[in-house]
Amino acid sequence: TRTQVGIVGAGPAGLMLSHLLAQNGIDSVVIDNRRRVEIENTVRAGILEADSARLLVDSGVSDRVMREGHAHEGIDLRFTGESHRVDFKALVGESVWLYPQTDVFIDLANARERDGGDVRFGVRDTAVDIAKPAIWFTDSDGVRQEVRCDLLVGADGSRSICRAQVPHAERTHYFREYPFAWFGIITEAPKSAPELVYAHSPRGFALISQRTETHQRMYFQCDPETDARTWSDDRIWEELQARVAGPDGFTLAQGPITEKTVLRFRSFVAEPMRHGTLLLAGDAAHTVPPTGAKGLNLALADVKVLAEVIERALLKADDDALDEYGPRALGRVWKAQHFSYWMTSMLHTLPGATEFDVRRQLGELQSVVDSESGRRLLAEGYTGCWPA
Ligand code: DHB
Repeated sequence: TRTQVGIVGAGPAGLMLSHLLAQNGIDSVVIDNRRRVEIENTVRAGILEADSARLLVDSGVSDRVMREGHAHEGIDLRFTGESHRVDFKALVGESVWLYPQTDVFIDLANARERDGGDVRFGVRDTAVDIAKPAIWFTDSDGVRQEVRCDLLVGADGSRSICRAQVPHAERTHYFREYPFAWFGIITEAPKSAPELVYAHSPRGFALISQRTETHQRMYFQCDPETDARTWSDDRIWEELQARVAGPDGFTLAQGPITEKTVLRFRSFVAEPMRHGTLLLAGDAAHTVPPTGAKGLNLALADVKVLAEVIERALLKADDDALDEYGPRALGRVWKAQHFSYWMTSMLHTLPGATEFDVRRQLGELQSVVDSESGRRLLAEGYTGCWPA
């Protein structure tokens, strides 16, 4: 097969790029080693920036987010047992959308199918050559395939095989590890609060999120070595309730827990985001810790820029267009890295934290909620509405 753009990875970044390119008459082939049902059944984050939701609607993917998503105009920061609302709408004039990444994926996969896009799920033994450029894989029928392309896009996640093709001497990897992880659950229960609650507590961080009227998503900070299977529902509820408890009597509505997973995370950026005909997008180029839900939003912001420069490069023979991609995308990437790191460090308890460390953190949280400037800085990061 011959195509203009070969895309490795059919997550939101790869599919959105393929969709945007198709609208400008540029053809692409997207491959993924996961089967479509596997991706549809993996629980991922749940918050879309307003710009991400608009991109889905305005580019003609789907308007389902507007019908089935929930606009959230703020969050609660909770510490010393008290909640403090950060009102995004009042501070920066934007809301965010509670709309699961899994639904974003479903909308994109349906749109590519509807528009006749070439997306191959469930492939095996993928190899890429960034010098040719080309992709080889065994398709779901067991047939070995070769895709020759003009440009190769690595949208293949944090363990990207495309990124690994860039010679060591020509790239720099920046990263930071965290000595904790998240224990994530789905529970069959009604909502516990109208919006998301980010809680600091002496026992560590907890996040009360949502999915539907009947299913909710919650997380709590845990040791990275935790085996989720060894935690009973009772033990999980006891831990979550203890982390949100306070004099206001806030308690979580409990129900059966249908999903338990420990999520490890890190901060990571690979620079440059382009090497010759290879372009990296989304988690392949950068990953953020989950606090603040920037990952998917950054991936969509990347491909919006990428689609534009690829159009100029391929349709207008503008050879310099691709040079713009990394520098333009990285401005947002590093702001989001800072925001995700800041939310993480402000709300989590470090193993071995001293009483000084904890009180300083509470001083930081109090500074943020007491100051309109502090709340606005948080709102800009959370909504992704950073002043240029
Ligand atoms: C969710 C995940 C996050 O990391 C976050 O900051 C907010 C919400 C979620 O899965 O709902």
